[in-house]
Parts: sequence; C-alpha cells; structure tokens
Amino acid sequence: MSRILAINGGKPVLKKPLDFFPPSPMDNREQKAVLRVLKSGRLSGFVAGYNEHFLGGVEVKRLENFFCKKFKVKYAVSFNSATTALHGAIIACKIGPGDEVIVPPYTMPATASCILMNGAIPVFVDISENTFCLDPELIRRKITRRTKAIMVVNLFGGPADFRKIKKIAREYNLKIIEDNAQSPGAKYRGKFTGTIGDIGVFSFNAHKVIQAGEGGVLVTNNESYALRAQLARNHGEAVVGQIKNLKDKTILGNNYRLTEIQAAIAYEQLIKLNKLNSQRIKLANYLTSKLKKIAGIECSTVNIKDEHVFYVYPIKIKERVLAVSRDKLVEAMLAEGFPMSKGYVEPIYLLPIYQQKKVFNDTHFPFAGKHYKGSSSYQKGICPVAERMYEKELTFTTICQYPYTKKEVDLFIKAINKIINNKKELK
Ligand SMILES: Cc1ncc(COP(=O)(O)O)c(C=O)c1O
Repeated sequence: MSRILAINGGKPVLKKPLDFFPPSPMDNREQKAVLRVLKSGRLSGFVAGYNEHFLGGVEVKRLENFFCKKFKVKYAVSFNSATTALHGAIIACKIGPGDEVIVPPYTMPATASCILMNGAIPVFVDISENTFCLDPELIRRKITRRTKAIMVVNLFGGPADFRKIKKIAREYNLKIIEDNAQSPGAKYRGKFTGTIGDIGVFSFNAHKVIQAGEGGVLVTNNESYALRAQLARNHGEAVVGQIKNLKDKTILGNNYRLTEIQAAIAYEQLIKLNKLNSQRIKLANYLTSKLKKIAGIECSTVNIKDEHVFYVYPIKIKERVLAVSRDKLVEAMLAEGFPMSKGYVEPIYLLPIYQQKKVFNDTHFPFAGKHYKGSSSYQKGICPVAERMYEKELTFTTICQYPYTKKEVDLFIKAINKIINNKKELK
C-alpha cells in the first residue's frame, strides 16, 4: 500500500471508487412482479371517484396490507413519495394557516416543506449530539398556543428519544408525526419507529433501504387520519360530498397516488427488509468496534434497548483530538475511493425560502399576515448543534450498505488509518 495519500497523488487504497449509493438489491422477484403488472395491463388502479377504485389497485392494496401486518398498525396509505405522504400527514392532522409545527433542522428539507405546503409554520428545535434527532430538552421552550404537532425525524436509521417527546406531546396535547423515511425496521424500546407517534411516514426513493424508484407509505392506528390521508392522496375534494357521516368536508386533495409497478416492487423490497437491515447492522457493529479505537473519531452510541438500522453510518470528528479536520479527512477518504459525505444537509432554516420568508411569490405568506399571530425566527445560530454538525463535525459513510461486505469495511478502516498515520501530509 502506498504511503503517499491518494489526495496528494499516491496510489489509492481502491483503484475504482465505490458508489456513494450503491445499486439496490433487485432480483428475479422484482422482475417477476413488474412483469405481472405489465401483463395485467393495469398500471394504476386509482380513479378519483368514490367507488371501488378510490383506494387503488390490487398491488397498492397488497402492499398496504403487508405494511399493516409487518409494522403492526391498523392503517397504511401508500403515496408516490415520502414527501407527499408527509403532506398527507399534515392534511390528516388538519394543520394549516396560523398553526406551528416543531421540527428539527437537520433533515431532508421535505420534512419542513410539507408544513409550509399547508400554510403552517415550521418552528425549528435543535438536535441532540447523540441521536442527531430532536433534542427533547429544547422542545418545551418553543411551544406556543399555536403549536399543533411535533414532527420527529428518526435520522440515519436511528430512533429519536420518544419517552421524553411523548411526555411533552401528552402534556400539551400535540400530535406526533414521525418522518421515518430513513429508518424502516428501527426500534425504540421494542416498538417500530414510524408506529410510535400518531402518524408515521416511510420512503421508497432510490437511496433508501427499500426502494421502488419513488414512493412512500403513511401508517397510523387512527381511522379518521387514515381516511383524510386517502382523501389527500386522491382528489378528496371531488368525493367528500358522497361520503355519508363525514362531518368535515373541507379537504383539498392531490394526485399523490402510487403506481401498480412501484407498489409491486415495494412489496418485494419489504420482504427483504429484515435481511438487509441485519446485514447493515452487523457491518456497522464491526465498523464501530474498529473505529472506537481511534481517538478523535466518535461513533453513534445506540441505547441497548433500541435498534439502529444504519441507513447511513454517522461519525463525529473531534478535530482537536484527531488533528485532522472533518473536511480534510473526508476529502482524503474520497480520494482513497470510499463513500463519505461532509456534514449531511445545511440546517433547513438557512435555505433561501426561510431566510427571505418567501414561499408563495412575494406574499410572505404564511410567515406574515393576519392569520399568523406568532413570529417565526430563522437566523443563523438558532440551532447551534445542527450548525456545528453541518459545518465541521459530522460525516457519514454508506460503506455498511448492501452490496458492501466486511472486505470493503476492512479496506475502509485501512484507508482511515493510512490517512491518520500520514496526517502531516494533509497540512
Ligand atoms: C428524512 C427524510 N424525509 C423525507 C424524505 C423525502 O422522501 P421522498 O424522496 O420519498 O419524498 C427523505 C428523502 O431523502 C428523507 O431522508
């Protein structure tokens, strides 16, 4: 192995760099499923009328039933993405103009956009250093008369601190919506994440643990949320008039419908979830056992009572101890051929729509106007932990994902050690 770092022109540990998001495990089961749908000639079973087609076709229903069984929930409503399912959740909870929703800033922007899409206000609360999810200790001070819900994100495959969050939600009568896009199969105190709050959302996009190109599912045990989610998905305004005993007929639906091919693929992928999760967990535990020997590198500590599924493997870099900055380490690892990322996403409130408070052209709605009596605040500095993670401390790798094996993980560790042993070269 070359001693000269690849970033300085030396021979990299890997001749061919690994994919950041390696291709998904699709085999003849998915192929057969797709063919079955193609042969049927029915690529979608949805019609926006209140009849037997309102809830979609056979594949969509089969997937939803499987979700109910697998995650032990009463209702599953598929959507064409987690983003649209999150919007469905906001609609289901009747969150709208004048309302506020507590949300972490260190997540995919869709977690907060769905709140804006319904004219409500995202109120950002910082994350915990340990879980990278909402810090429950900081939630109370952000609750106002207008707060309707807490949007909890189970980030990177690990659960948030639900005991404390649920206590707060009960105390203030707030709904809990779980963005579980990244964590299917994770558990908090023995219960599946996504099924702990009032509503949970899963994603099937092309980077996720189980994939169908695009797609999502909303799960709940509440019948009226399930119905409103179904209405949100399929032009609800066109059919509410026909639903007897439905008291609240104010709903604006969309076309958020999943196709039959996507549903058939997602079904096959869900069958693989346990296997894929246990492979990743095994590799992640192995990686942790190696990395924890390196001073200046901190791995996630998972509570013994919980289960992290390591959608990605997060690492914190303590620059002062390691004597290498996060950015330098990541650049050097990329040059050696390994998939690593700098700091996940920019805290959401720093995006232009929040900085300028302009979502719907120049109106400043929903941040200002007579419907909103609060004052939203999105200045830099409001969530210092998320900012520090983004700017200098956090990195993550996908080296534990299928199809990577112990062989790639061993080479990953070799590359880290190569860089650390030659860190003077990085100056
Ligand atoms: C935490 C989180 N929420 C929501 C989404 C949106 O998922 P989708 O692409 O299925 O809309 C993602 C996707 O990356 C995500 O990571």
